[in-house]
This record gives sequence, C-alpha cells and structure tokens, in this order.
Amino acid sequence: MRPNLDFDVIVLGAGAAGLFAAIAAGQRGRRVLVLDHAEAPGKKILISGGGRCNFTNLHCVPDRFLSNNPHFVRSALARYTQHDFIALVRKHGIAFHEKTLGQLFCDGSARQILAMLLAEAGAAGVELRLSHRIAEVTRAERFRVRTDRGGFESPSLVLATGGLSIPKLGATGLAHDIARRFGLPLVAPRPGLVPLTFGGGMLELMRPLSGVALETVARCGRAGFREAMLFTHRGLSGPAILQASSYWREGESLTLDLLPEQDAAALLRAAKRARPRAEPRTVLGGLLPQRLAEALATRHLPAPRMADLPDRALDALAAQLRAWRLQPEETEGYAKAEVTLGGVDTAALSSRDCHAREVPGLFVVGEAVDVTGWLGGYNFQWAWSSGWIAGQAA
Ligand code: FDA
Repeated sequence: MRPNLDFDVIVLGAGAAGLFAAIAAGQRGRRVLVLDHAEAPGKKILISGGGRCNFTNLHCVPDRFLSNNPHFVRSALARYTQHDFIALVRKHGIAFHEKTLGQLFCDGSARQILAMLLAEAGAAGVELRLSHRIAEVTRAERFRVRTDRGGFESPSLVLATGGLSIPKLGATGLAHDIARRFGLPLVAPRPGLVPLTFGGGMLELMRPLSGVALETVARCGRAGFREAMLFTHRGLSGPAILQASSYWREGESLTLDLLPEQDAAALLRAAKRARPRAEPRTVLGGLLPQRLAEALATRHLPAPRMADLPDRALDALAAQLRAWRLQPEETEGYAKAEVTLGGVDTAALSSRDCHAREVPGLFVVGEAVDVTGWLGGYNFQWAWSSGWIAGQAA
C-alpha cells in the first residue's frame, strides 16, 4: 500500500466520541483525519433523545457507569465534565432544558448538537472523510489505514467506531476487532439499555397489555430504578426496564414494585371494608392503569365483589404488586439496544487519556470501551469526556 496522505492523528468513527477526540486534537494544532464508512456523520446523535439529543446529565458521577473497573471513568469525567460540555452548548447558543433527573435535552433538535460538533471540527482544521470502507489497519513505525478509497498514515490512531447497537445505523465491531488484533483484551459485549422479552404464560399476560405504562421500581441484583415502565407485545420496556436491563444477565430475575412506597395490603384491606360490593377490578383500577388492573384481578382476585375475597388473597396480591418477580427470557438484542455493554477492557487502557498501555499511539474512546452509562445523557457524556482526554494526548 502506498499511503497518499499523512496525518498526526487518524480517528476511526465520526460519531460523538470520534468527533470530540478530533476537535480536541485539532485544537492542539494536530493534523487530524476522521474516517467513517457511513455517508453522514453522527447518525446516532441525530436520532438520540427522540430527536432532541439528551446530550449530558447534570448529575454525571462515576457510579452511574457500568464497567469491570468502575473507577476507570473518574479521571475522564473529572477532566472534561458535564459543565464543560454545557458551556460549549451555551457558547453555540443552543437552547436546552432539563427534562427530568438532570437529563439535558435541546429545546430544538439534535441537529444543533451535530452542527456544533462539525463547526468546532471545521474550526480546528479537522478533515472528515465519509463513505470510506476500512479494509485494514496495520502498524509499523506508524499506523497505516487502508480503505477502499486510498491509504492514510499517522503516528496516533483513535478507535471510536462505537459498539454493536443498531446495526441498521452502521454499527460494527470494527474497534473491537482492531483492538483484539493489537492484543487488547475485550470484555464480552452484550446489549444494554434494551427491552426485555418474556415467554409462556407471562407473555400471554403481557401482550394484551401492550401500550400500558406506569411508574415502577425495577430491580436487578442490587440496582433499582424508579421510572416509567411500558408493556410491549414482546415483554417490557420503558426507562425503568431499560436501566435495569443493563444489570440483567441471562437466567436472572427482575423484580418490579408496581406501587412504590405504598402499603398495598393496607390499601386493599381498607377498600374491602369501605366498598365491600365493589368489583375487585374497579378497586385495583384506583391503584393501577385500568387494563393492568383488569388483567391482575382476573388472575388473582377471582370473585365478583371485594367482600367475597379472603384477606390472605388480598395480601398475596399486595405482596406481588410490591415485589413482582419475573423471569425475562432474553433481551430484544442489538437491533433495539441503545448501547453495548462490555468492549475493550479498561485494564489495557490508561484512565488518564484512554491510551493503550502496550501499543504506543493507539487510543480507544466512547462506546467501544467497556464503559456504559445509565440512560439519561450519561453515554454521550462518556463520549465527550473520553474523546476529549484522548484528544489531549493523541
Ligand atoms: P457512535 O456509534 O456514535 O459512532 C460510531 C461511528 O463509527 C459511527 O459514525 C459509525 O458510522 C462509525 N463506524 C462504525 N463501524 C465502522 C466501520 N467498520 N468503519 C468505519 N466507520 C465505522 N446517549 C445519550 O447519552 N443520550 C441520548 O439521548 C441517547 N439516545 C440514544 C438513542 C438511540 C436510539 C441509541 C441507539 C443510542 C442513544 N444513546 C444516547 C447512546 C449514544 O448514542 C451512544 O452512547 C454514543 O453515540 C456513542 O458514541 P460513539 O462515538 O462511541 O459511537
């Protein structure tokens, strides 16, 4: 291969992390090339947050990230904080608001965030080449990237091609493959922030409830999330379930509290005394969405009137409402997962700059790394923070 262009830094991937690494390196006067196989940059930014991009979270702290090494994120998050990114958004005059739980969204459109990144990249002299299929990456004295449209060389290479989520948008395992080829270990990837599917009798209960939403606390292991959940035709989704899914492993159970902080048993017993002639589904309908109330009453309170039910039946249902133990079958997979858990093992990277300890000049940033945030802007903040620290050193 005869390289036709030399750069100081080549960044593979024009997503959130790659663009941010390129901007940071370009601002330091480095000659930066960003390569992407897609015909447009930042596709995930554009669809994120329902088109409004939840670009960071006010409460971005290390314990909101999953990784084999939970301390790895500390340095990046401290060196480039959510407040740094918010200042950049303000500098570009992009209006935003806090939706809930510290989640910051554009008032207008995610396009503004992408336009901001492209403007910053342009100002920093970053060269962006799209629709380049990456055929091979090798390293002698410098990195050589061979594409279907020519070869490129640089002493620094930043892997920023993300994870495996949403292949339809161009996600591939390229960063994982290249990292592996350079001897970096991987933590087995799996879908995260993803709807959970159920089978058998549980699916029979859930499917007709598709579209019903309610507040819940979803627990998986020691993690618990109080947010909305949603029944789907395949099982469960909604923020609480997506959050819990990142902690769920095949074979494990999920526990739902459908009446958070309420004494369900006392409420049902009181209703029985106050309204003995009321139908159980009507009483439950005062506590839960009507369709769910009807389904649960049919299953668990099979009597025409509250007075006909023994207290122990009410107590048993109450216990289930507060701690409904469910056995998900699987997840909806990468096609529906917002993120990929696992990835390049942080043990192989310096937490100060995401530099591969054993491969001089190689950096891995963003979702390709074994760092995954909660739902709510944390994943973009990781992309900005990890991209920025790599851009300071690449
Ligand atoms: P990202 O996937 O963004 O970019 C990777 C780039 O590499 C892409 O441009 C891709 O084309 C390119 N690439 C891949 N394979 C390649 C190959 N073989 N050759 C060349 N180029 C290649 N997070 C958040 O904080 N707030 C939010 O609101 C949302 N919303 C959201 C919605 C949906 C539907 C999804 C799927 C995800 C989110 N996320 C999110 C998660 C967030 O989008 C994600 O964490 C970041 O985009 C990760 O940034 P990266 O730059 O690491 O990868």
